[in-house]
Amino acid sequence: MSDTAIININGEAFEFPIITGSENEKAIDIKKLRGLTGGVTTIDPGYKNTGSCQSAITFLNGEEGVLRYRGYAIEDLAEKADFLEVAYALIFGDLPSKPQLEKFENDIKDNSLLDVDLRKILEAFPKSAHPMGVLASLTSALTAFNPTSVDVSSDEAMYNAIVKIMGKFPVLVAWTMRKNKGLPLNYGDNSLGYVENLLQMMFSKPNETYKINPIIKDALDKLLILHADHEQNCSTSTVRIVGSSHAGLFASLSAGISALWGPLHGGANQAVLEMLDAILQDGGDTAKYMAKAKDKSDPFRLMGFGHRVYKNFDPRAKIIKVAAKEVLDDLGVDDPILEIAKGLEQEALKDPYFVDRKLYPNVDFYSGIIYRAMGIPTEMFTVMFALGRLPGWIAQWKEMRARKEPIGRPRQIYIGENLRAFKNIENR
Ligand code: SDX
Repeated sequence: MSDTAIININGEAFEFPIITGSENEKAIDIKKLRGLTGGVTTIDPGYKNTGSCQSAITFLNGEEGVLRYRGYAIEDLAEKADFLEVAYALIFGDLPSKPQLEKFENDIKDNSLLDVDLRKILEAFPKSAHPMGVLASLTSALTAFNPTSVDVSSDEAMYNAIVKIMGKFPVLVAWTMRKNKGLPLNYGDNSLGYVENLLQMMFSKPNETYKINPIIKDALDKLLILHADHEQNCSTSTVRIVGSSHAGLFASLSAGISALWGPLHGGANQAVLEMLDAILQDGGDTAKYMAKAKDKSDPFRLMGFGHRVYKNFDPRAKIIKVAAKEVLDDLGVDDPILEIAKGLEQEALKDPYFVDRKLYPNVDFYSGIIYRAMGIPTEMFTVMFALGRLPGWIAQWKEMRARKEPIGRPRQIYIGENLRAFKNIENR
C-alpha cells in the first residue's frame, strides 16, 4: 500500500500521508485537509471510520477478536495477573516489578480515606438514586476536596493524583452500593488486598465478621481486569475530550462515568440481566425475543450483542462465559438465566440476521450473571464496570495530556436556515 492518499476535489488532487501503527494499522492523516482544500472537512457520525489519536495503551483487532493491554494478551493477563498489576501496566507502560507493585499498593492504601463531609453529599441522595448517578456526582465532588488540578508536567504530582483516585474510588463504589441497600457506610481495611478490601467494604455488616470467599475474589479480580481498558470507546473518548480542555482528572473521570452509564455502552450489563429476566418471566421464549431484536419496527435490541469494533467474538465474553459457569458451580448457584443466555447465544450464532451483521456476544452479555451470583444488585453492575475501567481512563487521560493533544473540537456541516431577516414579535 502506498504511503500517501490522494483526494480529488473539483479536478484538483490533494495528497495526504498515510501513517502506519505498530500493528500495521493504516490511517490517512488529514490534519491539513481543511487548510489545503479551502475549507473541505470530513463527516463521520459516531466516528466509525475516524481515529481520534495515536495511542500505545491498548490494541484491538475486531476482525480477529484480539485484545492486548500494553502488548500483553488479555487471556494471559486475566489468567496470570491481578487487577493492580494490570492497572499499573496500563497507567505506567509495563507490568510492575515486585517492589514497584508493593509501593503502588501501599501508596493506594495510604490514599484510600475519604473526607467525612463526602458522606453528607451521599446522604442527600434518595435511596432510589441510580448508583451511576451517585458515583458520577461523588467523583466530581472529589474536586471540592482536592481543588488543585494535577500538574501533569510533574511525574510526582501525576503519580500522587493516580494513587489518590485509585484509593478513593473503591470506597465510593462501596458507598454507592451500601446507600442503595441501606447499610451503614464503612471504610477499607488496609490489611487486605485491593479486591478483598473492596468486597469487605461492599458486603460487610456491622454485626457480623465478614469472610472473604476466594472464588468471588478471584472472579471479581478477573472481571475488573477484563474491563480495564478498551482503546477509544465512548466513555474513554469522553474522558479524553473533557481532559483535552485541561479540566482536571477527577472531573474528566466523572464525565466518563456518565458516558458509561448509557445502555448502549456500559449500561448494557444491567440491560442484559433485565432482558434475560424478562425472557425468563415470559416463559423462556427466546425465539420471541430474537424476532423482536430483528424487527426494525421494534426498538428492542438483543442487549449484550454486537460491537462497534468486534466483528468476531469479543475475547472478554469468551473468558467471562467460562468464568460464569465456574463461579455458579463453585458457589452452588443454579441461575436459570445462564441457560437462557446460552440458548440465545446459540440461536443468534445460527441466525442469518446476526451472522450477516457479525453480531456476537460482547463483554456485557455474561458479566451480569456473575455479578448477580456474587450478590451485587443489578443497578450496581455498571458501577463495577466503571471500577474496572478506572485504570484505563487514567492511562488514556495521562497519555493525552503527556502528548499535549489539542483541545477536542470537531467540525460540522450546517444544514439549517440560510440568512433571514429578523421579524418583530408582532409579525411572527
Ligand atoms: C460496550 O466500544 C467499546 O469498546 C465498548 C465496550 C468497552 O469495553 O468500552 O466494549 C463496552 O459498550 C459493549 C457494547 C454494549 N452494548 C450493547 O450490548 C447494546 C446492544 N448493542 C448494540 O446497541 C450495538 O451493537 C452497539 C451499540 C454495541 C454497536 O452499534 P454500532 O456499531 O453503531 O452498530 P449499528 O447500530 O450500526 O448496527 C449495525 C446493524 C444494524 O442493523 P441494520 O441497520 O444494518 O439493518 O446491526 C444491528 C443494527 O440494527 N444491530 C443489532 C444489535 N446491534 C446491532 N440488532 C439487534 N440487536 C443488537 N444488539
